[in-house]
Amino acid sequence: MSVGRDVLRLTTAGSVDDGKSTLMGRLLLETGSLHQDHVDAVTAHSRRRRDPHLDLALFTDGLKAEREQRITIDVAYRYFSTARRKFIIADCPGHIQYTRNMVTGASTAELAVVLIDARKGLTTQSKRHAFIATLLGTPHLVVAINKMDLVDFTEEAFHSIRQDFCDFASRLETKSLHFIPLSALHGDNVVEPSANMPWYRGSTLLHHLENVNIGAAINRVDFRLPIQCVIRPHQDFRGVAGRIASGRIQVGDEVACLPSGAISRVKKLFLGETTFQEGLAGQSVVLQLEDDIDAGRGDLLVRRKNLPHKGAQIDATLCWLSESPARSFQTYILNLAGRETRCHISRIDYRINVDTMHREESESFQVNDIGRAQIQLNEPLFFDSYKRNRETGSFILIDPVSHDTIAAGMIRGTTPDLSSLRRETQAKRNLMESERLVSLEEREHRRGHSGCVVWLTGLSGSGKSTLAKKLERRLFDEGREVFLLDGDSVRMGLCSDLGFTDQDRRENIRRITELAALLAAQSVVVICSFISPFRADRENARRRLQEKFLEVHVDCSLQTCEERDPKGLYARARRKEIENFTGIDSPYEKPLEPDLYLNTEERTSDECVEVLRAELQQRFTGL
Ligand code: ADX
Repeated sequence: MSVGRDVLRLTTAGSVDDGKSTLMGRLLLETGSLHQDHVDAVTAHSRRRRDPHLDLALFTDGLKAEREQRITIDVAYRYFSTARRKFIIADCPGHIQYTRNMVTGASTAELAVVLIDARKGLTTQSKRHAFIATLLGTPHLVVAINKMDLVDFTEEAFHSIRQDFCDFASRLETKSLHFIPLSALHGDNVVEPSANMPWYRGSTLLHHLENVNIGAAINRVDFRLPIQCVIRPHQDFRGVAGRIASGRIQVGDEVACLPSGAISRVKKLFLGETTFQEGLAGQSVVLQLEDDIDAGRGDLLVRRKNLPHKGAQIDATLCWLSESPARSFQTYILNLAGRETRCHISRIDYRINVDTMHREESESFQVNDIGRAQIQLNEPLFFDSYKRNRETGSFILIDPVSHDTIAAGMIRGTTPDLSSLRRETQAKRNLMESERLVSLEEREHRRGHSGCVVWLTGLSGSGKSTLAKKLERRLFDEGREVFLLDGDSVRMGLCSDLGFTDQDRRENIRRITELAALLAAQSVVVICSFISPFRADRENARRRLQEKFLEVHVDCSLQTCEERDPKGLYARARRKEIENFTGIDSPYEKPLEPDLYLNTEERTSDECVEVLRAELQQRFTGL
């Protein structure tokens, strides 16, 4: 299937009573897309009820029943075609539609029909629908002013709503806006031109759908293939399968797999059973690669020289879908093109008042709110801006407990690094430490070595403290200026207000990082021994400390940690006496590329200290 030439994907948005089902029924009926027995059944039903009109909404009622039983949301697709084009209508109730769009990347809709009841005029709900359609990047907007029969088909009624909508739309980002007066019930201007509205000389809805220019919104440049699965039908074949989110790819092209960065070339490309030379955006393909690289579900295939952004801080527009309001620093799960990570909202910038389109200050988002926020991820992900790529530029937020989708987001870009911004602003405000009379060079000279931070991360019981203490003793005996910071000591004072939730741990590590940075700047060798379970926090520490930072992964299987259980905490966590215990009911994100890896099951603690000592000597002046 080639998306863009002969297929138009459209969405319809309207409130329950605006006549959405009737309009769909009318389109299906008049384009001959319904089975005759279905038509007969509905005709008989309408006659029995002495309804003068065919109840067109019944044609889509089957869908409603399925939806009520929550079978699946995807069945709410309707297909019909004319000699010119095929059409796919995604019909979902209100917010589910937007969620689904986000989840499946099906926001490939090229056109949105916003239905307005001619008697009611422009409502907040219609504004919201139009606004969301444009936010989602839907290129064409059709405002269908329905129920014209109930306002005597008057031109004034149509013009006044059109004017209201135009005033509102001047604040929307849309270039293609089209108004059609119609009556879905009677069929005026849906498929056939209306004899009741001679003043309207524009096209009917179907004529417009058949002729609107499509395909322009497809990103044909940036090749992105989120891998859905790896296919291995027999030993000699291994292929990665997924839908090409954007761009194109040919046999022989070089590709990179993210996050590993492994490189290979496309050996064969399959669409179903058939091999092709080229795959395009929208197609579901299987790629056989020349090398057996490590690729799996959730990974992203891209071109080596056209990489997406990588980051842990996202600047996004959010549509809040949940009845429970958004809360800063609450942990959510973020799903972006099949990859998941924990995250929290670090700042809510504003919400948009849909009636006025003005920004309003807000501490929170309520259900249906749309606004801008900064999201902090626990581990960096690859992404594009939504403008560039709808699929790798959108995400959903999921409640970690109920697993409900609570928000849909569109990425605007990366959040500027707040801590460095803060430092810069402070520098500007002259809050920088005033010039000292003792310089770092003098200190280093007296101590004979530079400062650094040896950051030991690992599960509780992995052996961090043992190594940290032995290393401290050793360096002290050698006459070095050394200082040990560990979880238990810091948490008694400096961080006594913090517990073990994700955000408390983040704050714990932030404070320790700052303290370690101050000490390292005094030419002290700081040994930090903290579980520090989140990659993003350790990466922040690295950014803060730069080349002074040495990340050491003290590794050991969870089973061994549990057997060692020096403080009896694992046993208590298993008995549920302690919650959020790392490794049990709170995650530990292993370093992907630590500066040093020490496995305390494979080596004795003395051997580990030897390795550590040698590494320090190699890296830092005078150590
Ligand atoms: S961190 O996650 O914020 O880096 P930190 O290293 O400071 O943790 O503290 C870990 C120590 O606190 C553990 O060694 C253990 O003694 C104690 N502790 C108490 N409750 C927990 C918990 N829920 N998870 C992990 N450690 C805990």
